[in-house]
Amino acid sequence: MIIGFVIGLLTLIRIFVKKNHQPLEPLKVENEARKKLIRFIHMSLYTLLLLMVASGVSLSLISGLGEIVFFGSEAALPEDFGVFLPKTAHAIFAKVLFAFIGVHIVGVLLYKFKTDSSISKRMWFGK
Ligand code: HEM
Repeated sequence: MIIGFVIGLLTLIRIFVKKNHQPLEPLKVENEARKKLIRFIHMSLYTLLLLMVASGVSLSLISGLGEIVFFGSEAALPEDFGVFLPKTAHAIFAKVLFAFIGVHIVGVLLYKFKTDSSISKRMWFGK
């Protein structure tokens, strides 16, 4: 839960930094379809991360977990979060997110082998 919040905060910082930063040098990609795919994967990753946080927060609110963790409620922890609808969404988003992370890793490696330039440095600050 706490880690989920931290990931959500880091995602928002990342989006803010990206919006307020000079655009990066264009990738060495000529193929239009590939460029569109790259844009789609990136947008999807940000969207899925935000959906994970939104569904996680909804799950905590509906199940009373937030009250227990942050506001000292003495209620018992739910035995099975699966009975709450946001849990289904949270679990589905997680699977899709992990699949996209896999595709992203493959894309980064392919780019490295095809162009012999490192793309991972572009993901960090100050590049
Ligand atoms: C990017 C952020 C997050 C990721 C990657 C993530 C990932 C996951 C995963 C993989 C599961 C297990 C799903 C399954 O059973 O198939 C899960 C469960 C859960 N998550 Fe998250 N989560 C995130 C954010 C959050 C946030 C922000 C909250 C609450 C504020 C939260 C609350 C929960 C809860 C209550 C469960 C159910 C635990 C259980 O069934 O025992 N998550 N999360």
